[in-house]
Amino acid sequence: MLLPDHKILPENPVENIESYLNAGGGKAIIKALTMSREQIISEITRSGLRGRGGAGFPTGLKWATVAHDPCSVKYFVCNAAEGEPGTFKDRMLIRMNPYQLLEGIAIGAYAVGAQNAYIVMKTSFEKEYTALSLALDAMAEHHLLGEISIVITRGPEDYLLGEEKAMLEVIEGGLAMPREAEYPPYVKGLFVTNPWELNPAVVNNVETLSNIPNIITRGTEWFRRIGTTDSPGTMIFTLSGNVRKPGVYELPMGSTLRELIFDCGGGLFPKKKIKAIFSGVSNAVILPYSLDVQLGFDTVRAIGSGLGSGGFVVFDDTTCMVQAAYTFSNFLWMESCNQCSACKRGTDISTINLRKLINGEGGPETIEGIRQGAVLAPQGNRCFLPVEHQQIILSIIREFAEEFTLHSERGCETCHKVVLPKIFDLDTHNHLFTYSEGRSQP
Ligand SMILES: Cc1cc2nc3c(=O)[nH]c(=O)nc-3n(C[C@H](O)[C@H](O)[C@H](O)COP(=O)(O)O)c2cc1C
Ligand code: SF4
Repeated sequence: MLLPDHKILPENPVENIESYLNAGGGKAIIKALTMSREQIISEITRSGLRGRGGAGFPTGLKWATVAHDPCSVKYFVCNAAEGEPGTFKDRMLIRMNPYQLLEGIAIGAYAVGAQNAYIVMKTSFEKEYTALSLALDAMAEHHLLGEISIVITRGPEDYLLGEEKAMLEVIEGGLAMPREAEYPPYVKGLFVTNPWELNPAVVNNVETLSNIPNIITRGTEWFRRIGTTDSPGTMIFTLSGNVRKPGVYELPMGSTLRELIFDCGGGLFPKKKIKAIFSGVSNAVILPYSLDVQLGFDTVRAIGSGLGSGGFVVFDDTTCMVQAAYTFSNFLWMESCNQCSACKRGTDISTINLRKLINGEGGPETIEGIRQGAVLAPQGNRCFLPVEHQQIILSIIREFAEEFTLHSERGCETCHKVVLPKIFDLDTHNHLFTYSEGRSQP
């Protein structure tokens, strides 16, 4: 069971800085400023904290790479874009406790030797912007940010805003278009004026950084007391789709998917069975026989999928998987920025062929077209978007081959559309998510 003091998502919002300080907030930055940078990075490395933004990259290693770079100018960036369909945990964390995040950013920036930090979020995140701005002023007034200047940047609605190389472009005033693959943020950061000084940057997710204050105050052993060896700590899961109680739930890593869906989410509605589960739109489909998989980065990878940013969308047995594939493919095609022609073309080919299947205009060659588009899309790609497309689309075709063949004969006359679970807000009392219409449902 989750010990209450291991949770980083409080039950009730932290109303003001006094409440935060009374509950022990602020101690971590004070302690961190008495430690050397190496000591902090070593503590984070030993804690085993892995990034909660999707890839599960070890946070300590990322910080060490930037800290050890000989360049004298470094930046620290908090990724608060939360554009992955089926995910709402970062916005919940900001709404419930923005102070903890700011403290994590201040510690991270100090540890890597950055003078300036940015928090990047979508312009539509009004509530989060207000909460963070007020908390930022209060933390500065109480001298709880060290020497770091933190700026909140509001960016466009694009899914790619959350891609770290695109995020840096937006901070510099550009469009949400990823830079070349050979320039990850830890190589090329922000505001470069000299080709020999690339001002490297750390980019970390909101949840990753919200874990930092507790690790510094309570230590590595405390952090590792829950979770698994490869994925210590908790994770904040967003559960949506055909479950009784959609919501945001924090569990120890190593809990099972069954516990998340049934114990937290109340299971499915009467007479319904699980057909498919997706972790965002980035990974292969998970089938009901894998419900007992432990939720950890390596364990979910071992069943052929991925933990992503912990957003699980559950579909029951009334869902048409051709419609689901179309919704996901169409979203990724729309969001592809067209800098790499194979990405735009491949996702387009898949989407067009899925539409044909839905309209009853398909045949076996249409299914092959969907597959080919997905296979072709990741070529010379600057970012991971076409790989996500390939993983999700090929897995759906593979696991639901019969359904695809059936649809190639008679289309989708009686099937319901699948709504893209791009979450706009959560009514916590009624367990109700509202979805943004987005621009991805033409
Ligand atoms: C298309 C795309 C969208 C992404 N969107 C987000 C996002 O909204 N939030 C996020 O934290 N990471 C997102 N990522 C991952 C980031 O690029 C990056 O890996 C992450 O912010 C690193 O933080 P972490 O190490 O703390 O996980 C996205 C990646 C891709 C390819
Ligand atoms: S891979 Fe696709 S989304 Fe990523 S930069 Fe290239 S075109 Fe844009």
